[in-house]
Amino acid sequence: MVDLHCHILPGIDDGAADAQQSKEMLDLQKSQGVSGAVLTSHFYPETVSFEEFLCKRDEAYDKIKATSPILLKRAAEVAYTRHLANLGDIEKLCIEDTQYLLLELPFSADWTTAMIDDIQRMSANFGVTFIIAHIELYPAAHKNFDLIKKLRDIGCLFQIDTQSVISMSLTEKMFLKKLFRHGCFHFLASDCHNTTTRKPNLHEGFIKLGRLLGEDAVDEIKNNANIIFLP
Ligand SMILES: [Fe+2]
Repeated sequence: MVDLHCHILPGIDDGAADAQQSKEMLDLQKSQGVSGAVLTSHFYPETVSFEEFLCKRDEAYDKIKATSPILLKRAAEVAYTRHLANLGDIEKLCIEDTQYLLLELPFSADWTTAMIDDIQRMSANFGVTFIIAHIELYPAAHKNFDLIKKLRDIGCLFQIDTQSVISMSLTEKMFLKKLFRHGCFHFLASDCHNTTTRKPNLHEGFIKLGRLLGEDAVDEIKNNANIIFLP
């Protein structure tokens, strides 16, 4: 299994506090049956430059790569803002050796069509395929499912967090099924931040997902992540 969304790098965002905690998270990943993890530290375009972020990310990576029990790829969870397209070179934030970029959308109540147009333009200009992080968590997506379909139609892929699958209510179950039915559920990822409240739990997530969508769906969703990680 491959976990496409993790905050395991030490001391760079609200994920692992230090290299010791990173190691514990990596060991937990291995115990869950995860063989590869994508390191998606938060990148907020308004607060840090590309160069500063990439430099900090490499320093953090150097602290854990030698002792990691699983394969790792550097990436970022990039917060969408109107400012993002002006930065240029956003492909530097893609998952290592790929053109896939994990994009976090605003948690505001509404999304504008200007945002969707902007995402489409960036995708074309930079040759990037966006993976929308935890699509099930945004109020705007619940309010208007057509916006999700618009993102799908411009080529976006969608990731769901394990915690949403593990602790889903009946309404949430219906929503996850709807996402899958409409081709808007490509990846399940832990979005782990620590070893307690938001720990690596991909195996548990897939067990629950199998009960919800069936084993064929699980195989398909696992395979989607494998394809990105091992091109
Ligand atoms: Fe995240």
